[in-house]
Amino acid sequence: MFDLIVIGAGPGGYVAAIRAAQLGLNVACIEREPALGGTCLRVGCIPSKAMLESSERFHATAHDLKRFGVKVGNVELDLAAMHKHKDACVNAGTRGVEGLFKKNKVTRYEGTAAFTGPGAIRVQGKDNVELSAKHILIATGSKPAQLRGVEMDGELIGDSTTALGYSEVPGHLVVIGAGVIGLELGSVWLRLGAKVTVLEYMDHILPGLDEEISKEALKVFKKQGFAFHLGAKVTGAKTGKKHVTVSAEGLEDIKCDRVLVATGRWANTDGLGLEHIGLKTNQRGQIEVNGHFETAVRGVYAIGDVIPGPMLAHKAEEEGIACVERIATGVGHVNYNAIPGIVYTHPEIAGVGKTEQELNAAGIEYNVGRFNFIANGRARALGETAGWVKILADKRTDRVLGAHIIGARAGDLIAEVAVAIEFGASAEDIARSCHAHPTLAECVKEAALGVAGRTIHM
Ligand code: NAI
Repeated sequence: MFDLIVIGAGPGGYVAAIRAAQLGLNVACIEREPALGGTCLRVGCIPSKAMLESSERFHATAHDLKRFGVKVGNVELDLAAMHKHKDACVNAGTRGVEGLFKKNKVTRYEGTAAFTGPGAIRVQGKDNVELSAKHILIATGSKPAQLRGVEMDGELIGDSTTALGYSEVPGHLVVIGAGVIGLELGSVWLRLGAKVTVLEYMDHILPGLDEEISKEALKVFKKQGFAFHLGAKVTGAKTGKKHVTVSAEGLEDIKCDRVLVATGRWANTDGLGLEHIGLKTNQRGQIEVNGHFETAVRGVYAIGDVIPGPMLAHKAEEEGIACVERIATGVGHVNYNAIPGIVYTHPEIAGVGKTEQELNAAGIEYNVGRFNFIANGRARALGETAGWVKILADKRTDRVLGAHIIGARAGDLIAEVAVAIEFGASAEDIARSCHAHPTLAECVKEAALGVAGRTIHM
């Protein structure tokens, strides 16, 4: 009998388990994979960032060092070593979570969890046990969506996990879906020498992003060598001995070496035995919850990719913490307006709060402040002059409503604006805060100054 059972040890589940244990609850966490950390640590955020970093260094060394006065000889790719670095990053993370579980006295079970009745869970796998708890938190995450007509063989046609592990650089990689996964992993293989063709159903890339940034990103990615077919609905893919032929409406068939299917992800509820507690999923297969992460069944909670909302590790973490804090203390809250989203391409793309499109749709008047990286001294020294910072602030109150950045280290820069939104800061608050010189962070300050038409360096 536990106070809390957490099903799933991804960033939502393991963080929730640790926080609950810190708050004095007796916690079990059930995970079917031998390694803890979920999709994020094993086959998502962490390995993809390792490959993005390695491939960017390879590409920059081969093509970009001359202008910094660095001459190099023949640059060669050692893909096996790149994978080794990636594996080391993954292992350090997953072992780290094991250590944190021990430190915080979270009891870990290895196996697949299923409800057998209210408050009752059966674990089957390496561990075979029946457990019970007053509170049960479902944090089972998501899995890649299947695409009708495109059967994944995990070899020539695969998902993001397959694309993280290619043992050689594909001659021609077709990516289906110009979302975050398609463009991040497409970038990896493009930099390593593949021809990359992206087929996207919509007429724009990176759905949900600030429109101006999505358009700029398309231009930048095309310049890097990506081939795009927008408005292309993929209808099938046929595998030959060594090649795949991809068909899309309105396009001639495309022959390629590998296909990455990156058309979204689906909530993971298979085999959870939800029927035994009378819990139904919605039309998208997700578990619906109220503002306190309570499902329709008393004592059962859900967070992360398995519930509606953006599928982001940090969103799941915040939800996990809020959920267990509420269980233990009666209070817990997530500010969905202050959750940043980042695309780790080059340049990086990051956003937080509302887009201009959302503000216009809601009839909210706003001022825009912007600053281009090219006008920042540090950006010029880094040779990273593309892109801009855009800050949106309420016309009446100057309160920061959103920020959208395309440019070097956008993912790190956005943190400042997320904090500003969390604190209910005005653009002037950011503008009056001293930012060290010379740093890229000055672009954020200058954009904030720009809200009042006071930009100094542009
Ligand atoms: P996504 O939803 O971002 O993009 C999928 C794209 O596929 C969409 O643009 C959609 O229009 C397109 N599509 C769907 N069906 C199609 C068809 N038949 N033919 C052509 N195009 C089609 O999904 P993605 O990239 O697979 O990522 C899954 C989730 O993982 C997302 O929620 C994403 O936010 C998250 N993620 C976040 C990362 C980050 O924060 N950096 C990194 C990787 C994933």
